[in-house]
Amino acid sequence: MVCLGNICRSPLAEGIMQHLSDEHGLDWKIDSAGTGDWHVGEGPDRRSTRVAKNHGIDISKQVCRLFKKSDFEEFDHIYVMDRYNLADILAMAPHEEAARKVKLLLGVHEVPDPYYDDSQFEPVFELIEQGCKDIIKKLITS
Ligand code: 4NP
Repeated sequence: MVCLGNICRSPLAEGIMQHLSDEHGLDWKIDSAGTGDWHVGEGPDRRSTRVAKNHGIDISKQVCRLFKKSDFEEFDHIYVMDRYNLADILAMAPHEEAARKVKLLLGVHEVPDPYYDDSQFEPVFELIEQGCKDIIKKLITS
């Protein structure tokens, strides 16, 4: 799960996907990272931690990190939140097979950045949750 800062959207995506994966008894390795390094080593934004907690998901132990080239080998699927993330991650892809792993979490839509608007954390949670549910359904039936 990849966004810009790895403190708002992708930590929610990691927490939600981990929660759904546990619910389905799946042994998936799930992680998140950012394309920007401003918050490396920090925990998630408090607003994301709070909205996740309201939905019964604890993301407080996550630690922000940068996306790295080896993630292309480590993971089968790389989900990004918006088109900026998509362009940044595709620019790092070492080959075509790696580039094929990269998709928008919502398929053709973007998850908007809630960083500058407190009121957007709940709707962003709901968007990401729906995206994760759709992905799980698709991957477990394929
Ligand atoms: P995120 O939100 O990409 O969803 O984690 C942001 C967090 C921090 C910044 C930008 C976006 N920032 O510029 O510090």
